[in-house]
Amino acid sequence: MLNIALFGPPGSGKGTQSKFIIDKYSLTYISTGDILREHISRQTTLGLQAKQLIDQGHLVPDELVVKLIEEKLNNAAKTNGFLFDGFPRTCSQAKILEQILAARRLNLNAMVSLEVPQAELVQRLLDRAKVQGRSDDTKEVIEARFKEYASKTMPVIDFYKALNKYHPVNGVGTLDEVFVRIQQVLDAFEK
Ligand code: AP5
Ligand code: MG
Repeated sequence: MLNIALFGPPGSGKGTQSKFIIDKYSLTYISTGDILREHISRQTTLGLQAKQLIDQGHLVPDELVVKLIEEKLNNAAKTNGFLFDGFPRTCSQAKILEQILAARRLNLNAMVSLEVPQAELVQRLLDRAKVQGRSDDTKEVIEARFKEYASKTMPVIDFYKALNKYHPVNGVGTLDEVFVRIQQVLDAFEK
């Protein structure tokens, strides 16, 4: 099994690189952002609750996200491993993930952190807004997302450093260049 958390600020390329990773390593993809957006589009109770927070650039509560992750793990078909995109993004989520994996005799092999300078991130998100129109890709909300990232999500790096699971990857370059760097990290676990 290969279980990976793909980490990084808004716009760092988590969703983009996830596609390449799940194809090459045959992993089951779990993106909390995608699951939440799916609830929003279905207008579920959870979706309505999450939309208000997402549209302000705030994180949704840990309990809610953890419940979604447990549901996905419980209902997953047999797999080579899991790729978590955008989870965990608080220290509390990271601690709970260690526990819920251990309870299933699983282990997170690595946290791969995509590192990109903030000016490029903002540009990428504003460019994406023109083609995709995600409701949280406006200038004001992007700013709020970065604030949440700095205060609540960055500390997760130290959590994984202490467990020797933190693997920074330069996220600047072509999609192929970034994917080559990610493979250099992940291939070490496949052997
Ligand atoms: P989420 O959907 O996870 O959004 P995010 O973390 O803000 O990240 P993005 O999806 O915007 O960026 P990305 O890193 O996936 O980059 P992408 O590949 O798209 O979360 C949304 C919200 O949901 C949160 O704000 C929060 O409210 C809530 N939420 C989600 N998870 C949660 C959790 N665990 N706890 C609590 N709340 C949670 O790339 C971006 C753009 O750049 C694209 O246009 C792409 O084409 C382009 N690009 C990609 N790579 C490159 C490259 N190498 N060079 C140039 N351009 C590139
Ligand atoms: Mg994404």
